[in-house]
Amino acid sequence: MTFKRIFFILVKLCEIRFMLSDVKLRCGYILIIKEKMKLGETAKIRLLIFLLSAFSISFTSGIVKSQTDEQSSIQSNLSDEVKIMADKSVKRNFFQRLFGIPATKKPKNPDCWNYSGGKLTVILNKAPELSNKGGAIQIEGGNLTERVLIIHGDGGQFHAFHNKCGHGGRRLDPVPGGLTVQCCSVGKSTYDYNGKVLSGSSKEPIKVYPVALEEGNLIIALE
Ligand code: FES
Repeated sequence: MTFKRIFFILVKLCEIRFMLSDVKLRCGYILIIKEKMKLGETAKIRLLIFLLSAFSISFTSGIVKSQTDEQSSIQSNLSDEVKIMADKSVKRNFFQRLFGIPATKKPKNPDCWNYSGGKLTVILNKAPELSNKGGAIQIEGGNLTERVLIIHGDGGQFHAFHNKCGHGGRRLDPVPGGLTVQCCSVGKSTYDYNGKVLSGSSKEPIKVYPVALEEGNLIIALE
């Protein structure tokens, strides 16, 4: 199959997609692309890349729309106060969300934790990321069987969650000032500190682990 034929099929696919998604502005792009077909090979390759990315963005916007519909139905059952919490969001750009890159990092000092007998111990003086309210780390790898998100919350309280969104398994971040955690993906599933879904595509709650503070260490019972 020639390059021109593949290109033509892709243009047609995008036209159908744009018609279906009713994004009429983007039809203008298609007309421009057809005009540019008269250009050389390099221009065609650039346009192909553009076309593929436009197609993928259009496809993603379709996903976001259906997720937004699900979100409104979940939100209609929540109180006003909880709706405000559910609306707060972690600042991430489109590509960070598309590729599921969380804002929360692993601790700089990998020796700040150990795991044994179902208990995860975090040595707070080796984890400066948790010294202030709002601080958070994600712990995973080594002999840990589950990914864990730890947050320094209000009043010196610490919270620990299974760091896996109930929708597609992506990692979570604390929402600043929200008393919630949010999936780093496009769907932005948001959970309260009890693990309950407040908004987004997830229908499954996340696991919340009990946390005890003992002699400067956090003891988190994973089992
Ligand atoms: S993985 Fe889809 S909303 Fe979290």
